Amino acid sequence: MKDFYICDCARMENQTITSFFVVASKQVKSKKSGDLYLSVILSDRSGQLQANMWDNVADALNAFNQDDFVKVKGVIHKYNGRWQLTLHKVRRLADIEIDYSDYIPKTSKDIEQLWHTLSAFLESFQNPWLKNLVHEFMADDAIAIAYKNAPAAKTLHHAYVGGLLDHVVSLFTLCDLAVRNYPQVDRDLLLTGAFLHDIGKLQELAYQRSIAYTTKGQLLGHMIIELEMLHQKIALLPGFPDELKILIEHMIISHHGQYEFGSPKLPMFPEALMLHYLDDLDSKMESMRAQFEREGELDSPWSSYNASLGRPLLNTKKFLAKGLVAARVLEAPKPAAVAGAPEPVAPAAGEPLDDGDVPIVAEAETGSPLEALERKFAAHKVTPVGSKTR
Ligand SMILES: [Fe+2]
Ligand SMILES: [Fe+2]
Repeated sequence: MKDFYICDCARMENQTITSFFVVASKQVKSKKSGDLYLSVILSDRSGQLQANMWDNVADALNAFNQDDFVKVKGVIHKYNGRWQLTLHKVRRLADIEIDYSDYIPKTSKDIEQLWHTLSAFLESFQNPWLKNLVHEFMADDAIAIAYKNAPAAKTLHHAYVGGLLDHVVSLFTLCDLAVRNYPQVDRDLLLTGAFLHDIGKLQELAYQRSIAYTTKGQLLGHMIIELEMLHQKIALLPGFPDELKILIEHMIISHHGQYEFGSPKLPMFPEALMLHYLDDLDSKMESMRAQFEREGELDSPWSSYNASLGRPLLNTKKFLAKGLVAARVLEAPKPAAVAGAPEPVAPAAGEPLDDGDVPIVAEAETGSPLEALERKFAAHKVTPVGSKTR
């Protein structure tokens, strides 16, 4: 077990650390002087760290390769708002020194419970073709094992073992809520798209040592792999309607939503559009959550630069807490008076509050955001499409 993880950088600023990492990438680059230096991305289960070796490079050049486990010594510092390590020493670890659980992050959620949630959603499908299609994937042992373990991305979001399943369960929940507001959307088609939209990551990414692209993933990308996987399963379902097949294919290839993000077609029907936006929402919300968690010990409400979103992030909880402490204002401001409205009368000491004063506000502010949404739907009498499965 290591005693320094990448998430500990803040407490070791400008100090020398000695620890173990896996090499996610290794490049030999040239300084302005023409001398060589090593640019390395080190990885452990808590994140990734840029590391550079500026001096005495010759000995280290061939001492290790990408995907090797290494012991390093160096100094932690900040450069352009991001943590870096200036490397002084590197050596490859012997197999006996490697504890794999130090390097690959894993979801803290119960993977079997997540899988059970997907199965429960599938039970609620009304369209037998789509139900059978998703069942073909879930009943395939090799796919099920891989689906339970695959990350959803290399670095951008849900980049941990179980991340794909975590992402898809969250996406199913979002889809289930969103279709209640848009009854014209075909729930089964949307959920089928959600189940399949990233399934190609099972073959696109390898995650035995660090999360990296496979050669197939690098050359084809997950959308092309998904079409191949889809066609294999549809071949097991004679008579599968061509129209449904084309719609699913379109949802797969358009789910990135823009040409520059790898989609050769833009989403052209409601289920495809909704899949794109909810997928995008879920991945970005997770990216923000993970960054705030990684940088939980930082004092500043501003995070370091978030590479997947291309901006630093403001942690509103820290921001508001700091403001309250600084101003020493613990009472919320009173709402502006409405002309002609009677002045509220504060109850006398010991007098019970009116029913209308406390419970409505208290009730609206309790529970999770999802529960709040549920209450909102109930208040607006929106009828759920399909049965509720959570
Ligand atoms: Fe994708
Ligand atoms: Fe996704």
